[in-house]
Amino acid sequence: MPQRSSPGKKDSDLAKLRIAVFASGRGSNLEAILRAIDRGRLDACVCAVISNRATAGALQIASRRRIPAYHLSQKQFPDQESFDAEVLSVLRKHDTNFIALAGYLKKLSPTIVRAYPNRILNIHPALLPAFGGKGMYGHHVHEAVLAYGCKVTGVTVHIVTEEYDAGPPVIQRCVEVRDDDTPETLAARVLRVEHRVYPQALQYFAEGRVRVEGRLVRILPAPEGR
Ligand code: GAR
Repeated sequence: MPQRSSPGKKDSDLAKLRIAVFASGRGSNLEAILRAIDRGRLDACVCAVISNRATAGALQIASRRRIPAYHLSQKQFPDQESFDAEVLSVLRKHDTNFIALAGYLKKLSPTIVRAYPNRILNIHPALLPAFGGKGMYGHHVHEAVLAYGCKVTGVTVHIVTEEYDAGPPVIQRCVEVRDDDTPETLAARVLRVEHRVYPQALQYFAEGRVRVEGRLVRILPAPEGR
């Protein structure tokens, strides 16, 4: 794992989950992660925020909180290799040992996925493998769920692998679809669940309670007294 000791940083800081959040949009999941940290429900820190969109709300949230924020888009680089090298260099600069994709709409390259094996999570606003894959993000997912006439949808937090939206789930939660739902009302209910489960999934990793056995992600019992 690309974790080095840095001058001026205590060992206890480096042992902690140091999360780089990748986000393309408004950043409400980033906000939920930061709130969970503030409230002591997530034992981690967000060491950097990276966005492919200069105007992403997530970058503004990071700046307000004085978290290093980077606009890094593939378009700024001549090829995939040099883009990946820059992303990895930013991640190393901040001793990142974990990545959380929070509404990041770009596929991570195999180089980045391999640099953080089983240390990258994504949140998806449906019950994967349904309503996942290319083009299935944000409101498109909720529109497709309603168009299909689903009675339930939900949230999936999963480990990121080289295949898009196909890594093993860490947490899945159901959300009921109501007859009078619109994509907006459904998205709002799903989002409330996202904001609860993403910090929870990250906390499982922070506590060292995650075992990945092939496609099965086992969450070990909490230590006594928690
Ligand atoms: C969230 O609903 C997240 O699940 C979704 O984008 C939204 C980002 O909102 N992600 C995907 O659809 C990924 N395929 P946010 O910027 O407010 O966190």
